[in-house]
Amino acid sequence: LTQILVFQLWCHIAVATQSDDEFYYGDFPEDFIWSSATSSYQIEGGWNASGKGVNIWDTFCHSYNGKVEGNATGDIACDSFNNWRQDVEMLKFLGVQFYRFSISWARIFPDGTNATINEAGIKYYSDLIDALIAANIKPFVTLYHWDLPQTLQDFGGWENETMIEYFNQYAIICFQRYGDRVKHWLTFNEPWVVAWQGYGEGSFAPGIVSPGVAVYKAGHTMIKAHAKAYHTYNDTFRASQKGVISITLNTDFKSPKNTSNPLDVAAGERCLQFSIGWFAHAIFKNGDYPEIMKEQVRSKSLAQGYNASRLPVFTEADQAYIKGTHDFFGLNTYTTQAVEHYVDPNSATNTPSYMDDQDRKESFDPSWPTSGASWLRMVPWGIRRLLNWLKNEYNDPEIFITENGISDRNATSVLLQDSWRVNFYNQYINNVLKAIRKDNVNVRAYTAWSLMDNFEWGRGYEEHYGLYYVDMSDPKRPRTAKDSAKWYKKMIADNGFKK
Ligand code: NOJ
Repeated sequence: LTQILVFQLWCHIAVATQSDDEFYYGDFPEDFIWSSATSSYQIEGGWNASGKGVNIWDTFCHSYNGKVEGNATGDIACDSFNNWRQDVEMLKFLGVQFYRFSISWARIFPDGTNATINEAGIKYYSDLIDALIAANIKPFVTLYHWDLPQTLQDFGGWENETMIEYFNQYAIICFQRYGDRVKHWLTFNEPWVVAWQGYGEGSFAPGIVSPGVAVYKAGHTMIKAHAKAYHTYNDTFRASQKGVISITLNTDFKSPKNTSNPLDVAAGERCLQFSIGWFAHAIFKNGDYPEIMKEQVRSKSLAQGYNASRLPVFTEADQAYIKGTHDFFGLNTYTTQAVEHYVDPNSATNTPSYMDDQDRKESFDPSWPTSGASWLRMVPWGIRRLLNWLKNEYNDPEIFITENGISDRNATSVLLQDSWRVNFYNQYINNVLKAIRKDNVNVRAYTAWSLMDNFEWGRGYEEHYGLYYVDMSDPKRPRTAKDSAKWYKKMIADNGFKK
């Protein structure tokens, strides 16, 4: 009998694994949203055009500090400041229902405050929004995709809580001027990256290296600033404008290296709490940080001689204010890490090199295909697992995938025939479909990053994510559709996968 049972169990597992890997033919829900994305600093150029103020990425790139490959800058980028009509044509070709782009704060408030409003900057986005709507494409607008006005950085940037009110003033002008036409808003793009890379390891603007202190302050301020802008929209604009607003958070899926080792399972779970939970727990759960994060940062802070946790505290009033400030879950995700339990002998007291939770090691399985970024490997099943994890963790939210894609570092001729990117999208999107159809995850939108090759932050122009190729030696020239753009167009037209 035991043998029969074991055999049955084996068959069950074998079938489950097999059907999990099988390609799923079928379509997406009728009202599913297809989209593609960019961000202001990465594509616009026009860094000092028509009254724009200086932002922290202008400063960071102009300091030629060796942190941006090839000393690249976003001074010209894809020149979308002049070329945006072409961008709209590309979106029309793809047949997307949404275009996700961001507003450059310093383009409309040159000194970061509402003391001076730059009408030329306001008009730039207004014209873009009009053209999108005329093309039947809905604008999906990110307020903060990393380009803080330099004047605000000069008094502390996200480490300074006065930023909450400045961000609110900026959000108000955007709601006032664009909210008649924009119905989908995101406050922050990837606050984890802003905090960790901007204030923790310092690889991104503003380049502050403070992995145990400033990093948490910056995160704390952004959560509060998000909540305030959400309430402003909710209380003052929603009734007349009837739109939705949320935040977009990023994480890789963290898969236990050995699924039958409970320590690895716990390490993977902790890892998710320290990455996406850092921001999502407060906003989507109870207004506060995950317990495990509070415990670990506190115990390590005390062991290091601090008299309190380095993680700032949300008061009860803060918690009540932050909790529930979302209309959907915005998710950026690209890859998966294998996580194992690992105790660093010095981990009780050392300065965190990668957050405070160091009892873990992250790696890639060598069989996972590489990309143009060291942190990105193609692991299609990971996106499905992550979507399921979010469903269970945050009470089945409506999920908008606001970024997903893959990069390369190839030469132009190969670039246009980007079969590996087609393969990536084919498999990842298929796993999103499985999450919807087989697991009942409430995914409402999928966004391909990126519409076109652009300024990839620390990697300058060497790494490409675009569906379109842009000739960076003359960004005014027509952008060229890669094979992946043609593939995406067809998939959107079919709204899924036909046999
Ligand atoms: C996330 C960011 O939001 C985007 O700006 C970046 O280019 C992509 N990931 C790829 O790294």
